[in-house]
Amino acid sequence: MMQFDFHSTRSILVERGGANNLAKRIAERGGKSALIVTDPGVLSAGLLDKAMPQFKEIGLPVQIFSDVQADPPASVIDAAVKAAQASKADYIVGFGGGSSMDVAKLVALLAPGKEKLADVYGVGMAKGPRLPLILVPTTAGTGSEVTTISIVTVSESEKKGVVSPQLLPDVALLDAELTLGLPAHVTAATGIDAMVHAIEAFTTKRLKNPVSDCLAKEALRLLAGNLHKAVKTGNDIDARENMLLGACLAGMAFTNAPVAGVHALAYPIGARFHVPHGLSNSLMLGPVMRFNLDAAHTMYAELGQIIKPGLQGSTIEQATQLASYLGGLAGDLGLPQRLVEVGITAEDIDQLAADAMLQTRLLQNSPREIRLNDAADLYKEAL
Ligand SMILES: NC(=O)c1ccc[n+]([C@@H]2O[C@H](COP(=O)([O-])OP(=O)(O)OC[C@H]3O[C@@H](n4cnc5c(N)ncnc54)[C@H](O)[C@@H]3O)[C@@H](O)[C@H]2O)c1
Ligand SMILES: [Fe+2]
Repeated sequence: MMQFDFHSTRSILVERGGANNLAKRIAERGGKSALIVTDPGVLSAGLLDKAMPQFKEIGLPVQIFSDVQADPPASVIDAAVKAAQASKADYIVGFGGGSSMDVAKLVALLAPGKEKLADVYGVGMAKGPRLPLILVPTTAGTGSEVTTISIVTVSESEKKGVVSPQLLPDVALLDAELTLGLPAHVTAATGIDAMVHAIEAFTTKRLKNPVSDCLAKEALRLLAGNLHKAVKTGNDIDARENMLLGACLAGMAFTNAPVAGVHALAYPIGARFHVPHGLSNSLMLGPVMRFNLDAAHTMYAELGQIIKPGLQGSTIEQATQLASYLGGLAGDLGLPQRLVEVGITAEDIDQLAADAMLQTRLLQNSPREIRLNDAADLYKEAL
């Protein structure tokens, strides 16, 4: 028997240069005062320069909150909510990578003052309503523009998720021109993050469904087919657009069929060592795939034919070849491949493994159960 409940963003606009008409889009939807939530890197890259003049032209008041930090802590969300309340914004825009979009989602939820951040961690705790929200991704990675999730760094060792359909924006605006200047290492790391979303959604133990499967496979086709081009030739707009769409489709898949072990083991690396999210994922991808082989080889082999068409042998052999190809992808793209390269030593492993065990929301989705000693072994393998 089939039973599932699929959620996604109501309107997904794909338009090169579409961000230039942001003000009009907000005004058309009844917005009278906007707050744009972004980070200093996006601001200094000039990505908002084309969007801002139209706010003045049409007389729509707008403020920019640009203090988002990567892997945003709760204090950044509090400050952004205060900025929204002070400016009396009735329309929120998240403009940037996953960090900016995740903060914007929580600002839209919390600015009305009915809910508190401390009360909404976990699944289904945020009830809304929220302010109207447009999300504009500038990385091709998290897919946050179509997910029900915001990730908050709550301590030096832990990230927590707020998960609720209330966090889906009204509009996701995919403008590939915004990603043309994304540095090669960020393109590589965020692109691998998106691939991991698709792989983990396709192999998740819980909530896998035919819609998420279609999305995950098409996402991988787009991502695997364009990642090298986007990294090597950053101004290839077609490759950039395919990456942006691929990341979005992967987001649609994993918000309905949730991610698992790679993310559970990656989060402690990000929280303790400030390793970017996509890179943390890429460091754990190979070991976790090998660990899952017995439980997931048929599904990995199916994905292998999309990522590396023509893989030969039994499904176990194909899955093993895929794990080794993906394990080496970070190195091919110029990223660190081992935990030691990001400052992690053998002495850190017990702590990381203990931290990973706190990620119960993700661990329950793993095709093979990951216990404390397994987590330690996986970190050792990645060292
Ligand atoms: N909500 C979700 O569903 C979801 C899913 C996965 C990850 N996340 C979270 O998202 C965050 C990571 O997001 P991310 O990987 O997109 O990175 P990010 O938002 O942290 O941005 C990384 C860096 O890239 C810069 N940048 C972004 N776009 C740029 C551009 N076009 N040109 C130049 N520089 C640019 C930023 O200034 C920043 O310095 C983490 O907090 C992670 O936990 C959320
Ligand atoms: Fe991710």
